[in-house]
Amino acid sequence: MPDLSVTLAGLELKNPVLPASGALETLDTPLRGGDFSQLGALVNKTVTRDRRDGNPPPRVWETAAGMLNSVGIPSIGIDEFVKSRLPRLRAQNDRIIVSIAGFSVREFVELAETVAATGLADYIELNLSCPNLESGVLWSTDAGLLAEVVGRVRRAVKVPLIAKLSPNVTDIAEMAAVAESAGADALGLVNTFRGLAIDVRVKKPALGNATGGLSGPAVKPLALFAVWSAFRRVRIPLIGMGGISSWRDAVEFILAGATAVAVGMFNFVEPGCMWEIRDGIDRYLAENGLSGVKDIIGLAHRTE
Ligand SMILES: Cc1cc2nc3c(=O)[nH]c(=O)nc-3n(C[C@H](O)[C@H](O)[C@H](O)COP(=O)(O)O)c2cc1C
Repeated sequence: MPDLSVTLAGLELKNPVLPASGALETLDTPLRGGDFSQLGALVNKTVTRDRRDGNPPPRVWETAAGMLNSVGIPSIGIDEFVKSRLPRLRAQNDRIIVSIAGFSVREFVELAETVAATGLADYIELNLSCPNLESGVLWSTDAGLLAEVVGRVRRAVKVPLIAKLSPNVTDIAEMAAVAESAGADALGLVNTFRGLAIDVRVKKPALGNATGGLSGPAVKPLALFAVWSAFRRVRIPLIGMGGISSWRDAVEFILAGATAVAVGMFNFVEPGCMWEIRDGIDRYLAENGLSGVKDIIGLAHRTE
């Protein structure tokens, strides 16, 4: 039997398959698919300090082989999250990643401190695809802002930090290196790609917020390249995501350098897909005579 476990920033995950933040939408929706204790970890939809309604509808729009969304981080607020949702997440898996987003450095630090103080988070994931309120620039699209926010949170808490980066930059490997130098323990690659759809019936942008983020199979080669190029640049582990819909996709990400893989949009198409992906990785390893996932991380980079 192949060993599916992987080590992510010093902690062991029983297998490398995780939901991407936002994939389970809300814990008020009964979780569908399978046994959530059998995933590598669980990840909440990003939580913010204050309650937020998110963007105006429509919030999702189907595209060829993908989906545009402009959900806009609706949130119950951190106090309610740590009181009611986090304990429920924790009860379902022994590894929990808490995704947070702040609109200022101070907010990020406060959120991280609040989450760390619960003792219920194994990792804190910084969703760095939201804007810094002072400039309106996304945290992970500006090297200076990225270094500042990761560095300040790093100094404030001991919980392992995952910096989740936006792909909407010229050189994602450069941003990966900035996050690593600032103290990130792992990277989440990637968030959605900025895009637009126009509804020709009303002759206006289809989404309530005009632009949105593209995810799903359409972005897979782009996301895979991001993981590939970051793997060549940094030493910290990578969580690969973007368009994963099958075990083959997941194996491609692992071969490109991902230690773990996260599935977002495809959960809405096929609620059982994360367990099928886990089983498919298992079969692939067995059929190829490989002893475990750890043996194939980054293997596609070999030169011989
Ligand atoms: C409906 C929806 C909601 C999302 N919400 C979040 C979120 O709250 N925080 C976050 O970091 N990423 C969020 N994402 C991005 C995903 O976590 C993931 O990075 C991206 O969608 C690429 O993976 P995919 O192609 O498998 O969906 C969301 C994606 C979708 C489709």
